[in-house]
Amino acid sequence: MKARHASAIASVVAWEALDSRGRPTVACRVQLGGGAVGRAIVPSGASTGAHEAVERRDGGERYDGWGVRSAISALTGELGPAVAGLDATDRALVDARLEEVDGTPDLARTGANAVLAVSLASGLAGAQALGRPLWHVLAAAEPGGAATGRTLLPMPMANIFSGGAHAAGAVDIQDVLAVPVGAESFAHALEIVARVRAATAAVLQRRGLSPALVADEGGLSAPMSDNEAAVGVVCEGIEAAGLRSGVDAAVAVDLAASQFGTAEGRYHLRCEDRELDRADWLARLAGWCERYPIVSLEDVLHEDDWSGWAEAVKVLPDHCQLLGDDLFATHVERVREGIDRRSANAVLVKPNQAGTLTRAEHVVREAQRAGLGTVVSARSGDTEDTWLADLAVGWRAGQIKVGSTMRSERTAKWNRLLELEHDLGRKAALAGPEVFGRSTSVSEVRT
Ligand code: PGA
Ligand code: ZN
Repeated sequence: MKARHASAIASVVAWEALDSRGRPTVACRVQLGGGAVGRAIVPSGASTGAHEAVERRDGGERYDGWGVRSAISALTGELGPAVAGLDATDRALVDARLEEVDGTPDLARTGANAVLAVSLASGLAGAQALGRPLWHVLAAAEPGGAATGRTLLPMPMANIFSGGAHAAGAVDIQDVLAVPVGAESFAHALEIVARVRAATAAVLQRRGLSPALVADEGGLSAPMSDNEAAVGVVCEGIEAAGLRSGVDAAVAVDLAASQFGTAEGRYHLRCEDRELDRADWLARLAGWCERYPIVSLEDVLHEDDWSGWAEAVKVLPDHCQLLGDDLFATHVERVREGIDRRSANAVLVKPNQAGTLTRAEHVVREAQRAGLGTVVSARSGDTEDTWLADLAVGWRAGQIKVGSTMRSERTAKWNRLLELEHDLGRKAALAGPEVFGRSTSVSEVRT
C-alpha cells in the first residue's frame, strides 16, 4: 500500500478490544501517508433496535458468542484494502467505498461494527492530517461553516436511575435522566447532574436500598414495584440536592418501550404485573408529565407503531420533547418517514446504528432541516473514546446523552466537552432549554 500524498490512507489495522460491559468489540487504527493516525473503538447497545445497522458477532463458545474476530477479518481482508490510497479527509468518499464493499443496506455482511471502526478511524486520521480537532472539521463542513456564531456545546442528559436492559429489569422503563436546564455553562451543567446523582443515591439509601448497584451506563438502580417510582426518586434527588425542580434541573425519561411493548400497542409492565393498551399507557405518561418536570420522553412506544407515535404527539404535552431512538435507528429513511408522519420532534443519533460517520451526519442534517432536535448518544456498551463529544459539537446537535457522571467510558465524553469549553471560552455557548420544545427548532436556538 503506497500512499500518494500525506492524507492518503496508508495502513488499516484492527484488533479485538473490550467495551465497558466486558464484551468484545472492534478497535481500528488508520495511518496516513504523512504519518497522521486515527484510532477508534466501536460502541454497542443492549436495547438494540430492529432497524439498526447490524453488527457482526462470531457466535460459538468464545465470549458466549460475542466475539468479533470475523468482523475483524472482514475489516483487514476487505474493508482496509478497499480504502487504501483514498484521501482520509474526504469522509464521504471513504464511507461510500466502505458501503460499496459491504454491499448490504444494513452492513450485515462485513459487519456494521467493522465498517464503523474504519469510518471513524479514517475520519479522525483525516482531521489530524488537517491539523484540526474532529469537531472543527465537522463544523467547517456544516452549511454556513464553522465561522458562523458561537460554537454550540450540547445540553447534557445524564443517566441517574436505570432499569430495563441496562439494569436486569429492576423496573421496566430503561433510563431516568437529569437535565440541567438552568445551567450557565457546560461545567455548571455537569456539576448540577453530579449533585443530582449523589443526592438520589442518598435518597435510595434512606429507603434501605443500596446505592452500590451501578447499571451499565453508571446509573443507580434498585428493584421497584412500580415504574413511576423510578421517576419519583430522581425528582426527590433533585430537591434533596437543593436544586429547583424544573428550573435548575429537569428530567428526561427513556422508556425504551420496544423492550416491553408490541407494535399492536400492548405494554407489558413486568415489575407491576400488569398490561396496558396504548391509550392507557400514553395516558399514564401524560400524567407523569403533569406531576414531574419532564422535558423529554424517548421511545415512548414500540419502534414499529408509526400511527401510535402520531397519537403520542397529540396526547403528550407540547413542552415535552418526543425523542425517537429505536423508532428512527439513525436511519435517514426512517427519519424522513417520521417527518412526514409528524411522529416525533427529536432524533437520537447513535453512530453505530447508522454504520458510518457520513450516514449519521446525513441524519443530523435531515433532522435539523426539518426543525427536529438532535441528541447525539453513546451506547450502553461504550468505550474510553471521546470522538462522540466532537460529533455533538461539530454537528451543533444541541443535546448529548452519554450515561451517568461516573464510569470512565462516560466521563471520557464529559471531560472532552469540559476541555472544549475551557479552550473555547467565550467562543462557545451551552445550548439552552429551548431545545426541548416541540414548537422550537434547533435553528432558532442557534441565533
Ligand atoms: P442501548 O441504550 O445502547 O443499550 O441501546 C441506549 C439508549 O437506549 O438510548
Ligand atoms: Zn434509547
